[in-house]
Amino acid sequence: MSSVKVTPLSTNSKLNPKFGAIVTGADLNNLSDVEFRLIQEAIYIHKVIIVKGQHNLDPVNQFNFVHRLDPGAKEVHGFETEDVTEETTGVLGPRFHTIPGSKGVTVVGQGYQGDDHYGLKGITVRSTTHVDAHIEPLSPEELENQQTRFGAFHFDGVIYGSYPSRVTTLRCVRAPKGPDLTVRWDDGSGRSMRVKPGLTAFLDSAQLYNLLTDEERTLADHSQWEPAPQPYVWTGTRKIRNCGLGMAPGGQTVSLDQLPTWTAEKVYKFPMVWVNPITGVKSFQILPDVVRRLYMKSGPQGEERVVDDGEEIRLWLNDILDRICIPETILVPEYEEGDVVMFNNWEVLHSSIDYPTSYGPRTMHQCHIPSSTFPVGPVSV
Ligand SMILES: [Fe+2]
Repeated sequence: MSSVKVTPLSTNSKLNPKFGAIVTGADLNNLSDVEFRLIQEAIYIHKVIIVKGQHNLDPVNQFNFVHRLDPGAKEVHGFETEDVTEETTGVLGPRFHTIPGSKGVTVVGQGYQGDDHYGLKGITVRSTTHVDAHIEPLSPEELENQQTRFGAFHFDGVIYGSYPSRVTTLRCVRAPKGPDLTVRWDDGSGRSMRVKPGLTAFLDSAQLYNLLTDEERTLADHSQWEPAPQPYVWTGTRKIRNCGLGMAPGGQTVSLDQLPTWTAEKVYKFPMVWVNPITGVKSFQILPDVVRRLYMKSGPQGEERVVDDGEEIRLWLNDILDRICIPETILVPEYEEGDVVMFNNWEVLHSSIDYPTSYGPRTMHQCHIPSSTFPVGPVSV
């Protein structure tokens, strides 16, 4: 008998978003096949799960768990592909710290990680913050005053030359300590949200699909989007809106001939809608900041229209994204030191939330690997 128990977060009536679950009774260092299947299913059904009490999880076992979810994939972290170099990392931020002997678990968070963190000696982690990404970042004073923003909602993966990672796992090793924060939208709406420091925010792309009109849904089912080559460099001086989702006006992308070397066969055309392989649920899944082209088709018989005007793409996408970027739909599940957050990277978008440096360092052990298969759309296009 397995002691693994999955409790949906929706049983907590105070929470609005209807996704996410808590998993108890698991030991990720030592999972039977039955327990593994239960957790795998929970990720695909509940989209985001918090596996409680994994204080002693060995990083290599975290990696092996992620690989067990996609045994056909290469044993490498999602950002450690041949296509990620100092030259191409762009807005993904500084180089990653991989835990020695873990096969590909990286340390993300903020601040000094101590003299020896799992064999990493004296490292200081600096992950990308909203200050790097937003059109009008908060001032250091506002941030110290417990005001904050979502960073940039995204899914994980290099996507140029590798397929988006299926599942991301994040173990909270050290959480920052301090009073709750106010996440501000600063988009004229006056929206805000209270959160505990050091957490991660999630949006449900399946809910976004359901927020489309019938006509838009048919179009999305038959359409595709294409990221730019070397997407994280290409995005150039453009910035994200203050709410953390969708591009702000202005800024310049890097012209294709100025990018680090690239080849056309590594630039994939993604379906606009991705189908959950276990539940069949459809998600409107796009990485807004790197889209260079849309291939729009209104239905099976429709003529394909290629849109490569950046402003047209931006406005069309923002109109859709605005429907979901509201406090009622954003899930910020609480987790504690020792918990592992796992999410279906093909069905949610996620974002870090900045916190004042005076709250101390944040340490997360993060692992995702490039998928062995391409996301599947609802129809072949
Ligand atoms: Fe991420």
